[in-house]
Amino acid sequence: MITLGFNYSQMHDSSACIARDGELLFAVAEERISRNKHDAGFPRLAIQACMDFAKVGPKDIDFVCQGWPEPHRVFTTDLKCMLRGQYPVNYPNVLNSARLFASMAHQNGGFNLFKNYFGETQAEMRFVDHHLAHAISAYSYGGADKAAVVVMDGRGAWEASSIWYGHDGRLDHVMTIPWPNSLGLFYAQFTQYLGFVPNSDEWKVMGLAPYGSPGVNLSEFISVTGEGYTVNAPLLFDRSNGTSAIARRLGPERTPESEIDDSFKNIAFAVQDACEAAMISLVKLATQKTGCRNVCLAGGVALNSKANGKIQALGLVDHIFVQPAASDDGVALGAVYAPYLDRGGRLPMKPMRHAYLGPEFSDAEIEKALVTYKLRASQVRDVAVTAAEFLANGKILGWFQGRMEFGPRALGHRSILADPRDPEMNGKVNNAVKFREWWRPFAPSMLKEAASEYLEHACDSPFMILTNPVRPEKRDIIPSVTHVDGSARPQTVEKEIEPLYWNLINEFGKRTGVPVIMNTSFNLRGEAIVNTPTDAIRTFFSSGMDALFIGSYLVEK
Ligand SMILES: [Fe+2]
Repeated sequence: MITLGFNYSQMHDSSACIARDGELLFAVAEERISRNKHDAGFPRLAIQACMDFAKVGPKDIDFVCQGWPEPHRVFTTDLKCMLRGQYPVNYPNVLNSARLFASMAHQNGGFNLFKNYFGETQAEMRFVDHHLAHAISAYSYGGADKAAVVVMDGRGAWEASSIWYGHDGRLDHVMTIPWPNSLGLFYAQFTQYLGFVPNSDEWKVMGLAPYGSPGVNLSEFISVTGEGYTVNAPLLFDRSNGTSAIARRLGPERTPESEIDDSFKNIAFAVQDACEAAMISLVKLATQKTGCRNVCLAGGVALNSKANGKIQALGLVDHIFVQPAASDDGVALGAVYAPYLDRGGRLPMKPMRHAYLGPEFSDAEIEKALVTYKLRASQVRDVAVTAAEFLANGKILGWFQGRMEFGPRALGHRSILADPRDPEMNGKVNNAVKFREWWRPFAPSMLKEAASEYLEHACDSPFMILTNPVRPEKRDIIPSVTHVDGSARPQTVEKEIEPLYWNLINEFGKRTGVPVIMNTSFNLRGEAIVNTPTDAIRTFFSSGMDALFIGSYLVEK
């Protein structure tokens, strides 16, 4: 059976994936191909890439599943919330809801576009509830038979957070906290207040938070109890007289790109603190209600690696799996398995050990791109050894190898790499390559074998989605990947899963005594991570990187 899953809500992060007989073959976000970050358009390019990879056409597909429900479900939720006073009745909101409904209804949620672009198909077209798709994406790829599943995001059609009990390849719905009582909404509104882009730059608030101090009271906006949380959505939405309620209480909004004074840092601290408390409360609730301490998380809020690390460190759970494409790109991973629940069936249980699910380019294709750009490149016998030497000599490298990662993190296939021992390296990479804010931390990739030597509460962490404290005695050894609060967001690299990247880190370790490297995504600020060799070459020459290891080729400046 061939199933195709996609995410298309017209909100953000459209994506697609394809599975054959329950085996996930390929997954890619539309933004990586279209080069439009967080692309919310119909994932036409992503779907085509899925079919190309699987060597199938639309006629071969049995199910096409969209991780978003029928168009009227969002519209009726919006109207109900307006009538109840939970969502302001104003011109932009009414217009937006109506426009979205009209557009999605006209396209039949994207299925009409599928037929227009790809032609006739016998495939059954199916809507999958958004949080169910998120929940499947956490449970099926977590791989444990019994699991408490928690989904937290900005919104589904009607859901904000939900708890599920996964067992025997099935998912029992336990409870839903309805939109707009939404942690994602809470975090996004403050992200905007702090001068960043909501539903995109929440990372920046999380990175800024440790620079702040406690003391800001957000209890009017969110309260956390043992039974979860309550977000005061009407107040968060309130923009009477053109000023947000947040600004009326906490002072004027920060102008984007302006200096960040202490008051904004303190607000970021309070926002992160409240979010962590709410997530911890939800996870506790999920373990109580299901009697299961094996926890799987998905939904955009689950990208909060700081909170995830705390959940793990607090001992609330025996095991935590956070699906690495936790935001809406990952919804496709759930939608693609939804047909397996038919007639009492069981979901495929496929523990996710890596996220290298995207496109790959051969040396011949890479060479073609190098020739097109008339670049001098040399072929390297052992890229891991040569790259390790470059890194140990302080070079900043572009590293383009194998299949692209699915999800927001670069995990050693589309990465910019540097030496984490140099305390100046954070600033060098920020200024010369990423052109991004000074406070945003870089993350380490380390040999799995070395994790407990460098980290407290070390565990298998292949997806950079859990934050751990760096051991105090190691903080000066890897200063460039240790955040101001002494934490790091590690990727532990296993030889069996990713031998080339493991070898590179191992070779660096042999030369320096430190089997840890700095890894950040291969993109410039505000751009999607590179996908093709051409993307990589363009980014390399638009930045201060010293060398590019692309397939077996080395390009130097
Ligand atoms: Fe979502």
